[in-house]
Amino acid sequence: MPPGKVVVLGGGVVGLNAAIIALGMQADVWVLEKSVDRMRELEIALDGRVTLAMSNRLQVEEVLPDADMVIGAVLIPGAVAPRLVTREMLSLMRPGSVLVDVAIDQGGCFETSHATTHDDPVFEVDGIVHYCVANMPGAVPVTSTKALTNVTLPYVEEIAEKGLSRAIDEDPALAKGVNTLAGKLTYRAVAEAHGLPYTPLEDAGRALVGQS
Ligand SMILES: NC(=O)c1ccc[n+]([C@@H]2O[C@H](COP(=O)([O-])OP(=O)(O)OC[C@H]3O[C@@H](n4cnc5c(N)ncnc54)[C@H](O)[C@@H]3O)[C@@H](O)[C@H]2O)c1
Repeated sequence: MPPGKVVVLGGGVVGLNAAIIALGMQADVWVLEKSVDRMRELEIALDGRVTLAMSNRLQVEEVLPDADMVIGAVLIPGAVAPRLVTREMLSLMRPGSVLVDVAIDQGGCFETSHATTHDDPVFEVDGIVHYCVANMPGAVPVTSTKALTNVTLPYVEEIAEKGLSRAIDEDPALAKGVNTLAGKLTYRAVAEAHGLPYTPLEDAGRALVGQS
């Protein structure tokens, strides 16, 4: 039998791991990415075993007709996910093929997605099966909590040791992750996505110092 075809949209952390699992199932794997630098990394990490292609509407339309599964794993940090597959484009796909929208926690990258839960994970639109669980790692809660904590605990320890203001001043990585401070929205893309006012971190930080 010919292998199934798995298309991964977005080759970041999720996309790379999805591609590795699909390769393990002997699938014919395609990864569509927007960043050329990331494509270079994927070429090395996946040792040329997937087909890498630039992500654009034409390319997505070309891969849909013979895809058995499309995994949406795109992210524009802080912003609503781009809609890469419209309802109209579902008609290009074979009935019974599957869309997995991992980006559903950022609004989803398929027009027909809506968030589901592990209790009732799938639904069908125009004959295409959708899996859009907003908390997929919740299927393995202990493992995923340990994995997440491994990378977040050092930041918590830094804040506990230095206090919030100093920790943000001294660690640019931590500063980049601050979404709200002293009641202000300090992450531009989040503010824009929600139509709320944005305050630069330094300004909100001054208010915080003023309060303490
Ligand atoms: N549903 C869940 O349970 C669950 C679990 C984990 C992550 N997520 C979500 O999955 C998404 C991906 O997370 P990640 O950690 O892999 O992010 P990431 O930043 O590591 O990767 C995102 C990739 O998408 C690429 N990209 C951006 N726009 C694109 C486009 N138009 N076409 C193709 N590629 C594009 C970026 O270049 C980047 O390589 C996020 O929305 C995240 O919140 C959901």
